[in-house]
Amino acid sequence: MCGIVGYIGDKESQQVLLSGLKRLEYRGYDSAGIVTLGASGEPTSLREKGKVAELEKKILNHKKDDEVGIGHTRWATHGAPSKRNAHPHNVGDIYLVHNGIIENYQDLKTELTKYDYDFKSETDTEVLTALVDYIYKKDGTSLVSAVSQALKMVVGAYGIAVLSVKNPSEIVVARKGSPLIVGLGDDEVFVASDASALVGHTDQVIYMRDGEIGVCTREGVQLYDIEANEINASVEKLELDLQSIQKKGYDHFLLKEIYEQPESLNSTLLGRVSADPLRARLGGLNMSDNEIRKVEHVMVIGCGTAYYAGLEAGYFIEQFLDGVTFSSQIASELRYRSFTVPKNTVALIVSQSGETADTLACLQELKRRGVKCLGVVNAVGSTIAREVDGGVYVHVGAEISVASTKAFTSQVAAITIFGLMLAQAKGVGQMQLRSYIHELEALPSEIEKVLKKHDKEVQKIAKAYAHYEHALYIGRDALYPIALEGALKLKEVSYVHAEGYAAGELKHGPIALIDDRFFEVCYIQDNWLYEKSQSNLIEMNARGAHAIAITNTSKRIAAEKVIRVNTKLELFTPLVFNVISQLLAYYVAVARGNDVDQPRNLAKSVTVE
Ligand code: F6R
Repeated sequence: MCGIVGYIGDKESQQVLLSGLKRLEYRGYDSAGIVTLGASGEPTSLREKGKVAELEKKILNHKKDDEVGIGHTRWATHGAPSKRNAHPHNVGDIYLVHNGIIENYQDLKTELTKYDYDFKSETDTEVLTALVDYIYKKDGTSLVSAVSQALKMVVGAYGIAVLSVKNPSEIVVARKGSPLIVGLGDDEVFVASDASALVGHTDQVIYMRDGEIGVCTREGVQLYDIEANEINASVEKLELDLQSIQKKGYDHFLLKEIYEQPESLNSTLLGRVSADPLRARLGGLNMSDNEIRKVEHVMVIGCGTAYYAGLEAGYFIEQFLDGVTFSSQIASELRYRSFTVPKNTVALIVSQSGETADTLACLQELKRRGVKCLGVVNAVGSTIAREVDGGVYVHVGAEISVASTKAFTSQVAAITIFGLMLAQAKGVGQMQLRSYIHELEALPSEIEKVLKKHDKEVQKIAKAYAHYEHALYIGRDALYPIALEGALKLKEVSYVHAEGYAAGELKHGPIALIDDRFFEVCYIQDNWLYEKSQSNLIEMNARGAHAIAITNTSKRIAAEKVIRVNTKLELFTPLVFNVISQLLAYYVAVARGNDVDQPRNLAKSVTVE
């Protein structure tokens, strides 16, 4: 999704902005631009459609040693991806970059045209820029006051950075619903919508809150509320290092992140579970033992992969926890439903980025209703992490590739630990819990073993199946969410049309699809459902299927290709199978020559609905 960077200091701002924009590339974008101001305010504005590399070429031809500037990567919402619609937008004295959506921009536009403003782009951002310019000139006021007045007239979400050619010694920033971080250096200040752009520059950061406006100068930042009252900022340490945002010799971040899972999962588990003495404990929930004992319903909320993580954990938890109902909800649906929350409900708000707009909206609605909301978040300091009543960080480190992999595995683990905590508090038998914790502790090394053993095999199969245009993923029980997640991974990165189904649903519709344009991925666990899953395969074979089975059984499997995974796990076997489908999606995408880390049309952090 869109990215913002800003800089004021004594370095060449073009280069600082450019390196920041490169760091934000992983978020997804379709155009990019920067504007810098010379010592007396003369602007150099450069914008390009396409990759940051295109903008970089342009910067090379228009080099300036300006020491203040703002930049942007745009992911089109209003108006097509084009140079004209790219940010920064300029109207009169004002240059502005914006993440988010101004919902009432049409009304504002109509008003502004009465004052001779005409618009070159189709964007809501240009309208906001004109509004700031109008107030700035009309009232002859300071930039911060003009921005504050303009924002009071705006309905929508924004993170913005604003420059005035009249005053090249400040950048005004503001946020509501779209993240913005200010980084403090020595006589220099950085602005970014994503912490990765600040790494290497400073580790002293201020996470702006909704409704705050800041004036950044070389000396630091002064924050104000929307009424322009001064407020104190709290400076925090940025917990992200350069190592974690580099590829470390892998061809793509996606492959690196798939391979990081043993380590990232260990970080999720660290200090939280122990089989002997028996312990499942998540610090930071801000819930007393008594409150935990009282929980009768757990509502897990997320989007995409985070939603599937909730579904998957639900299957695990119901194996050992009676008397607590568990539901997993798609945030974009839940927020517009007239739903009832049962008493003694805890909501788990699951998000890698901690910024997903729909998930955040659900959190806000549930809090309004007085529901206890706990975060299962990766990005430290993100909006969801700050707004929940308590919660747990999954600690997987930076996830750069747009397709989520290591976050999924750890989200499932963290939610399951929450289930284990409830089970312990409610007196579930120690023997049973101990065996699950043993499995959880063994999971990282099982994943490591499987990655090592099956990488080449999956790569070969992926090459052979990469020409198919359709895929059907099926699984039963806890393998059903894995089928959904497997299909999502494949479609995201390979652009192969893929659907995930509960295998028992085959005869109720999807079996009609099977023909020579399809391949099928069937997850089969060696348990009470083996026979049923085998029957599904036989039914599909009778219709000409090209099935790939992922299984841990040594029994006969009627598939074209069989990936036999040897694991000592039972409950968590689906998470091991999932690693195979992550590899499959990756290698199919590579075989098809796709941009694996930045798939078309997708953004890493979906901060608008
Ligand atoms: C899939 C994927 C998305 C995200 C979803 C939620 O690979 O990455 O489906 O899982 O957009 O994102 P977060 O977890 O940041 O809320």
